[in-house]
Amino acid sequence: MAGQRVAVYPGSFDPITYGHIDIVDRSLALVDRLIVSVASNPNKKGIFNVPERIEMIHAALQDRKGIKIASFEGLLVHFCRERKADIIIRGLRALSDFEFEFQMAMMNKRMYPRAETVFMMTGSQYFYLSSSVIKEVVQFGGSVEGLVPPVVQERLEERFGRARFGVGTPPSPAPRRPPPAARRRR
Ligand code: PNS
Repeated sequence: MAGQRVAVYPGSFDPITYGHIDIVDRSLALVDRLIVSVASNPNKKGIFNVPERIEMIHAALQDRKGIKIASFEGLLVHFCRERKADIIIRGLRALSDFEFEFQMAMMNKRMYPRAETVFMMTGSQYFYLSSSVIKEVVQFGGSVEGLVPPVVQERLEERFGRARFGVGTPPSPAPRRPPPAARRRR
């Protein structure tokens, strides 16, 4: 609709985390419509395929208003033009994100000057969170409870197996009794 502020929040979302959802919620306070869009990149294989990622995003964001969930192939700016979106939302975590994000924002601006990239600092409680870290923790038996929506946790555990360790450090193994020969006789 004319006069509406439409933004695209693009990403791999493999899978969506509470860090992403924090950015979604804060963006919704600034724009009229937000299109959360999963980039489909045939050269970058994730653990979830695009329909699975979309299904998890739907489940995680189901009560939000003003949201559309989509996917795109190819250039983000082509997708923005097609959807008449002039704002690109990206979350920024640490300094390490900056170089890639800066390069991408500049290139997108060059290709599609109408669109403005808006960076949002990730909420401090999610500063260390990334989809890659989440996948690694689950893969090696750690719990990601409280870091991803329950539906994502379920899907990850289906894929990698149930968590063997709770949040925090894994419990140390039970103390071993010395072998019988070394035991003192009373
Ligand atoms: O969640 P990610 O992996 O950091 O998201 C990166 C993404 C998908 C937003 C970015 O790689 C992208 O826009 N890809 C689509 C291709 C494109 O437009 N590249 C921009 C060249 S500067």
